[in-house]
Amino acid sequence: MRKAIDSIWNLLGRPLKHTGQAMLLTLFFSSSTAAWADLSSQEVAALRHLLYQDCGSCHGLHLTGGLGPAITRTALQSKPTGYLFTVIAKGIPGTPMPPWESLLSEKEIQWLITELKGPSTQ
Ligand code: HEC
Repeated sequence: MRKAIDSIWNLLGRPLKHTGQAMLLTLFFSSSTAAWADLSSQEVAALRHLLYQDCGSCHGLHLTGGLGPAITRTALQSKPTGYLFTVIAKGIPGTPMPPWESLLSEKEIQWLITELKGPSTQ
């Protein structure tokens, strides 16, 4: 039992070096993927606008970095979905990264994450 707990901690505490771990995380988060599927095309257009205009005003119009770091697919490759959700919802206190949870629903934040990370990492 103790050994099992240790290996779970190891899995959670380490960067995602192994595809197996990445797959576990993907499985873990895939239960929520259907949530954004029912956004209307107007909502999706508004979100895309927000991503490139509002997020882009700090992260660069191509999201390759500005005041904030690059948030391209490559830059976010190793960042877990749960981390991205917290950062977007709550912001990063003490930095210019603002919280978005009062403006965006959970579904909309999930859509942004999928748009940023790409459909293969849903
Ligand atoms: C007012 C400027 C500003 C706006 C607007 C902004 N960000 Fe940020 N963001 C930042 C800064 C600065 C950081 C880095 C903070 C730090 O850790 O020093 C950051 C960090 C992040 C990170 C973490 C990146 C990493 O490599 O860990 C993500 C993801 C992110 N922002 C996504 C978004 C999204 C999505 C939006 C739009 C919904 C957005 N940001 C809007 C300034 C901004």
